[in-house]
Amino acid sequence: MFRKHDVVRLRARLGLTQEKFAKKLEVSVWAVSKWEQGLHEPTGRCLRALERLAKLLRMKIMLPIILALIAFGVISTAHAADIAAGKEKVLFVCSECHGMTGISDVENFPNLAGQKEMYLTIQLKAFKSGKRNDEEMTPEAKQLTDADIANVAAYYSSQQCSPKRAER
Ligand code: HEC
Repeated sequence: MFRKHDVVRLRARLGLTQEKFAKKLEVSVWAVSKWEQGLHEPTGRCLRALERLAKLLRMKIMLPIILALIAFGVISTAHAADIAAGKEKVLFVCSECHGMTGISDVENFPNLAGQKEMYLTIQLKAFKSGKRNDEEMTPEAKQLTDADIANVAAYYSSQQCSPKRAER
C-alpha cells in the first residue's frame, strides 16, 4: 500500500523532481501530484511500479552495507568446513577403504589421518576433474560436491596420526 507520505518519501529518497519521478513511472505529473496530496491512491500498474522502485532502493541501500560486512569478515561467503558433516560422509563412503580414522587396513589404500587439509582438498579436486586418475578413487571423488570435499578434508585432517620424520 502506498499512501501519500510513502510516495513523498520514496521520491525524496530517490532525489527526483515530480516530473522525473512521473517519467520513471510512466505516469503523468498530475497523477504523482494527486498521490502526494492524498487525493488518489496509486493502484494496479502504478502501484506495482512504485513497489518495484521501493524494492530497488532498499537493495541499493543494503548492497554497500552487505559488501562492507563481507569485507570486514562479519559475513563469510566461503562456507566454513563442517567436520561433523565430513565425518558422516566418511562413514558412508570413504571409511570402507581409508578407515574411519584415516588409517587404512589395505596396503595400497593410503592413510589420510592428519594429512594437510589443503593437500587433501587439492587431491580430491584433482581426482574429480580427472587430472589425477585412479580406478578406485576417481569414481568416489566424482560424487563429491565442493562442500563435501571441504568437509571430508577437514575431517581426515583433524584425525590423529603419529608422523615420524625421516632419520638424518
Ligand atoms: C574403493 C576404495 C576407496 C574409496 C571408497 C575411497 N578411496 Fe580414496 N583412495 C583410494 C585409493 C586406492 C587411492 C590411491 C589412488 C592412487 O594411487 O592414486 C585413494 C586416494 C585418495 C586420496 C589421495 C591421497 C594422497 O595421499 O594423495 C585422497 C585424498 C582420498 N583418497 C580421499 C578419499 C575420500 C575423502 C573418500 C570418501 C569420499 C575416498 N577417498 C574414498 C581408494 C578409495
